[in-house]
Amino acid sequence: MSAELTPQNAEVEVLLSEEEVKARIKTMAAQIAPRLEKNAVVVGLLKGAYVYTADLVRELARLGKVVLIDFMVLSSYGKSTVSSGKVTIKLDCSENLQGKQVLLLDDILDSGNTLSFAKDHLEKLGATEVLTAVLLDKPSRRSNNFTADYTGFTIDNLFVVGYGIDFAEHFREQPYVGYVKQ
Ligand code: IMP
Ligand code: MG
Repeated sequence: MSAELTPQNAEVEVLLSEEEVKARIKTMAAQIAPRLEKNAVVVGLLKGAYVYTADLVRELARLGKVVLIDFMVLSSYGKSTVSSGKVTIKLDCSENLQGKQVLLLDDILDSGNTLSFAKDHLEKLGATEVLTAVLLDKPSRRSNNFTADYTGFTIDNLFVVGYGIDFAEHFREQPYVGYVKQ
């Protein structure tokens, strides 16, 4: 029997280097910028998307795009048992989104529950359009038909960490995207 996998004994291998991620985010910003309206609000999902949000908005700024930045904290339950797909709001965004375009950012699009919930919620708050941009997409794990408007990298069903993404709150500070060897 093998020992339980923990952040302390996990072996992490680089999947996407800091340079690869940086270059991809630059291209994503170039694709997104022409579609952004003047009063657009960027909404990042914490904690996972904090580094990605910081880097993407700075690339948008280099392209002359001015945005407001907001965050939400969501949590999902039932993942380890039979997935209920239930997502709850732990911290809502604070900007008034009435009549505004929103660019919704998350680190990983996995089952799709989080992003479909967040998009619906932002529309209920009055956003006229919600564009979604994810850094990583794991299409093999989708439980609904959610697709993002913009995707950084499509990856296999790996457990990834780094660049804001955690394994039990560890590895968020790493500058690359790694995967945990199972
Ligand atoms: P979804 O609702 O299943 O699409 O969940 C997406 C969320 O699950 C992401 O925002 C991450 O917080 C988390 N997640 C999914 N895959 C991974 C992973 O490989 N490593 C760390 N967190 C993950
Ligand atoms: Mg997350």
